[in-house]
Amino acid sequence: MEGYRWTAAVVTLSDKGYAGEREDKSGPLVCEMITEAGYDVKKTILLPDEKEEIRRCLCSLCDQDKLDVIFTTGGTGFAPRDCTPEATLEAADRNAPGIAEAMRLASLKVTPRAMLSRGVSVIRGQTLIINLPGSPKAVRENLEAVLPTLDHGLAILTGRAGECAR
Ligand code: MTE
Repeated sequence: MEGYRWTAAVVTLSDKGYAGEREDKSGPLVCEMITEAGYDVKKTILLPDEKEEIRRCLCSLCDQDKLDVIFTTGGTGFAPRDCTPEATLEAADRNAPGIAEAMRLASLKVTPRAMLSRGVSVIRGQTLIINLPGSPKAVRENLEAVLPTLDHGLAILTGRAGECAR
C-alpha cells in the first residue's frame, strides 16, 4: 500500500542454526528482500525445530506484537524433525492456501523438488503467516513468486483497504 510499511517478523527454524553449527543465511536474505520491498522488519528470531516453541512464538508475534506478517524459513521438508507447517497450522485461525500454492506452482518450474516443501500460509487474527523453505535459493524463488501480490492481501486483512477491486 502506498506510503505504508507493513510490519514483519522473520523466524528461522533450524536445529543446526540454533546450535550455532550452521550460519543462518536464509533469515538475513528474507530480511533483505522484504526490506527492499518496503516492509519494516521488527523482529528476527532463530529457533530449533520444536513444534510447541514455534507455535508459542508465532502466537506471541501475532497477539502481543500485532505484526502484519510473519515469514518463517526452514523446517518445511520431510526430515523427521521438520515441523514448521504443523506448528503454523496450530497457530492458525484461518487457512490462506493460495499463497503456498502459488509458491509451489512457481517453484515447480524451477525444480521438481519444490513438491517436497510442505509449507503452509495461514492467518491468525490480523497477521498473515507464510512458511518458506530453508535454503537461500528456495527463499529467493518462493518470495519472488508472491511478494508483489501480498500488499493487496495485507491491505484487506488489516482493514486498510476497502473492497477488493474486481
Ligand atoms: N523451492 C524452490 N523454489 N527452490 C528450491 O530449491 N528446494 C526444495 C523445496 N522447495 C526448493 C524449493 C527442497 S529440496 C526441499 S527438501 C523443500 O523445499 C523443503 O525445504 P526445507 O526443509 O529447507 O524447508
